[in-house]
Amino acid sequence: MGNDDIFKKVTAHAKEYGFVFQSSEIYDGLSAVYDYGQNGTLLKNNIKKYWLDAMVLLNENIVTIDSAIFMHPTVWKASGHADAFNDPLIDNKDSKKRYRADVLIEDYREKIQKKIDKEVTKAAKRFGDAFDKAEFLKTNGRVLANQKKIDELTNSFQTALENDDLAAIKQIIVEAGIVCPISGSKNWTDVRQFNLMFDTRIGSVSDESGKIYLRPETAQGIFVNYLNVQKTGRMKLPFGIAQIGKAFRNEIVARQFIFRMREFEQMEMQFFVRPGEEKKWYRFWKEKREKWHKALAMGDEKYRWHDHDKLARYANAASDIEFDFPFGFKELEGIHSRTDFDLSQHQEFSGKKLQYYDPELQKSYVPYVIETSLGLDRMFLSVLSSAYTEEVIEKADGKKDTRVVLKIPAPLAPVKVAILPLMKKDGLPEFARKIMDNLKFDLNCRYEEKDSIGKRYRRQDAIGTPFCITIDHQSLINNDVTLRYRDSMKQERVSILDLPSIIKLKTNMKNLLKKVEA
Ligand code: GAP
Repeated sequence: MGNDDIFKKVTAHAKEYGFVFQSSEIYDGLSAVYDYGQNGTLLKNNIKKYWLDAMVLLNENIVTIDSAIFMHPTVWKASGHADAFNDPLIDNKDSKKRYRADVLIEDYREKIQKKIDKEVTKAAKRFGDAFDKAEFLKTNGRVLANQKKIDELTNSFQTALENDDLAAIKQIIVEAGIVCPISGSKNWTDVRQFNLMFDTRIGSVSDESGKIYLRPETAQGIFVNYLNVQKTGRMKLPFGIAQIGKAFRNEIVARQFIFRMREFEQMEMQFFVRPGEEKKWYRFWKEKREKWHKALAMGDEKYRWHDHDKLARYANAASDIEFDFPFGFKELEGIHSRTDFDLSQHQEFSGKKLQYYDPELQKSYVPYVIETSLGLDRMFLSVLSSAYTEEVIEKADGKKDTRVVLKIPAPLAPVKVAILPLMKKDGLPEFARKIMDNLKFDLNCRYEEKDSIGKRYRRQDAIGTPFCITIDHQSLINNDVTLRYRDSMKQERVSILDLPSIIKLKTNMKNLLKKVEA
């Protein structure tokens, strides 16, 4: 199955099983805005808990806040978002469609890369075992010509970006002969900068003076509260403030399902440190965050680091953790060394001192900041797409069947255990309810008595429930049940007294957190 197929299946599955719905679907949806369904919300909440517990429970010097989405408009002047949070856009005059110029160029580059990949596949087939890929890439004329095109495109695009040269970006599009995917024409407007912040009005004023923005990142809510938290929490450097909350960006190219949304959620932590110590803490948080991801055991090979070549205005080092999504390796989380840029800017624009008195050094200074910034929706997509598995299994009658199972890490699974009386009579439902009443305070349980047991197992596999408990007539006599494991489909007879400990051992968040700290 190709990656495109897998991705289509994951998105269809997410809808069919109550994980993610298109926003306002009955009105044909709102582009790049999504709602989380009954199972998706539980999965999302578990991811949030894993993140926040890893920040706040495991680090006594990290606290959490919940700041407002609306902020004083000067915040965005100070942060630079009002002037520089832009994407370069270009319109096709025939289709009237608007594109991100950098994405058009990136797509074109990928198209050339695919041509190279095709040549390699063809040659590998032709030469069989004797095929030397490295040698082929170095010597094949068509490959070399295409690689030259990619290199030239990359270089001129990077130079244009560095110089903020919008005319040069248009020139690259024209010279490459890039056409509009809708009209097929090369009839382009000039490239313009477009600010990604959504604006709205506050109060009853309808003119510019009432204009405010929906925050494009949660981080600024932390920066403007730095002093409040430091003073009221009597925090000593180094310390961190963690926050989970909504952010909004008017993305022009909104695609790949919940990967790039216009309304999304971020889990950000700003770690305030002594100037000069930021490189040490940058390395520290890179290591910690990598461990947090890998503790989920979704496959270490699915993660890689990507260091930023072009640093944002506020950073002196930045690196992304990329994840191998079905559409390739893409940014999942950013770790940024943000210097004292934000606090200094807010100090200047607000006229309020945002400094820390360091008793050891006996002087005051504006702290430096290391930021860890993870998109909750991207994290959700990484879990969902790596969990999605199709397995061919043999049925009792010897025939083959395909089972779709979400192998979600057990502590994150929306439902931890399904309770399934084999029949709707003979006291089995009552016995099952008693088991549920015992487990439901600690574990998210689901009770189901409709359909054959095989169908019920499949439904639970499809939403990633790690355990199923089946109650039969023997249960009433021996006080035991059949416990079925999602991934292995192994079944074993277990005393009802042992159920809580067996299930909690696998589904408890504590075990994940211990791996993060190990
Ligand atoms: N405070 C720093 C900051 O916001 P960013 O790289 O722009 O940095 C951080 O965003 C993370 O937020 C990204 O790594 C990604 O996971 C997530 N993110 C950014 N834009 C997004 C979007 N349009 N939809 C979903 N997630 C997004």
